[in-house]
Amino acid sequence: MESKVKKILITEEQIQKRIKELGQQITEDYRDKKLVMVSVLKGSVIFISDLMRAVNIHMQIDFMSVSSYRGGTKSTGVVKILKDLDMDIEGYDVLIVEDILDSGLTLSYIRELLLKRNPKSVKIATLLDKVDKRNIQIEADYVGFDLPDEFVIGYGLDYAEKYRNLPYIGVFDN
Ligand code: IMP
Ligand code: MG
Repeated sequence: MESKVKKILITEEQIQKRIKELGQQITEDYRDKKLVMVSVLKGSVIFISDLMRAVNIHMQIDFMSVSSYRGGTKSTGVVKILKDLDMDIEGYDVLIVEDILDSGLTLSYIRELLLKRNPKSVKIATLLDKVDKRNIQIEADYVGFDLPDEFVIGYGLDYAEKYRNLPYIGVFDN
């Protein structure tokens, strides 16, 4: 498994330290709000499970699943809803939690969709941000780490559904 990691970009310790900081920031920002974190499956499950434990106010979580990648390292440009939210987000302060913001296609689609349901607010938290790859105008409100334009795996991120269980973030070795 490790042989497919060209180099470790972000260590387990660095990830945990940064998540604590993000959690404190979110705790302050959402203190008097009705926070629901929306995890975009499957890549963000590890991030949300650590992030929510770094947040010290009442909150809820829900999940949705979309597909914009088909197994490879390139986007197909197609976003499809595979699983919608269970809850009605009307009046809630929604924080979309993503693993990585790349072209921006997936997140802008999800944000538009959720905005139509009359939430009080919609913001975005992403663990990783590939700023250079953006071809849609969208910015995250909370960013863990900026990333160079390289395909990464681990800490929830996959290549062909594998390597999500690596505890660090590494560059994929083709
Ligand atoms: P976007 O729609 O191009 O912003 O892509 C977002 C989705 O693409 C993420 O939720 C990931 O599932 C996937 N993705 C983009 N870049 C990477 C990467 O470097 N490693 C693993 N998955 C990636
Ligand atoms: Mg993926």
